[in-house]
Amino acid sequence: MPDPTILWRGPVDNEAVNRLHGEAFGHEPFDDDWEWLVDRHSLGWVTAHDGATLIGFTNVLWDGLTHAWLQDVIVAPDAQRRGIGRSMVERAASEASGAGCEWLHVDFDDELAPFYLGACGFEAAAAGLRHLR
Ligand SMILES: CC(C)(COP(=O)(O)OP(=O)(O)OC[C@H]1O[C@@H](n2cnc3c(N)ncnc32)[C@H](O)[C@@H]1OP(=O)(O)O)[C@@H](O)C(=O)NCCC(=O)NCCS
Repeated sequence: MPDPTILWRGPVDNEAVNRLHGEAFGHEPFDDDWEWLVDRHSLGWVTAHDGATLIGFTNVLWDGLTHAWLQDVIVAPDAQRRGIGRSMVERAASEASGAGCEWLHVDFDDELAPFYLGACGFEAAAAGLRHLR
């Protein structure tokens, strides 16, 4: 497989993002309007493409000032462990920095510590998460 094309704020195909989200998290595709969501709520987003096929997506939320957050870092199962996740996070970090952000946050389950702390350059930090419903 050739190297994927990595884009910042590239075109968003709702059906492709919903399919990828379902494949990566192991659920039936939802019907979310990603085009509207990222336009309204995100500093930006990163996509990875193999030709015309979407194989990676990363959403970058922010506070409008100096903090940005990663959400939904996803790579298609058959494209994982090729460095695509790391490349998307690197692009997200570089674009957030260029937009004036000082901090990039992410939360994750313990099993992904080798990815975020080992491969993507995050430092471990205490954080809180409250389930609202
Ligand atoms: C997590 C995810 C985005 C990683 O993407 P990826 O493209 O496979 O990751 P990379 O190839 O860039 O991985 C770089 C390194 O991170 C580590 N790593 C990657 N995935 C890992 C995993 N699932 N568990 C533990 N370490 C992992 C490895 O050290 C890897 O290097 P190696 O392949 O030489 O061993 C991908 O597995 C995924 O989409 N998972 C399902 C959705 C998900 O859980 N997303 C995260 C939500 S917080």
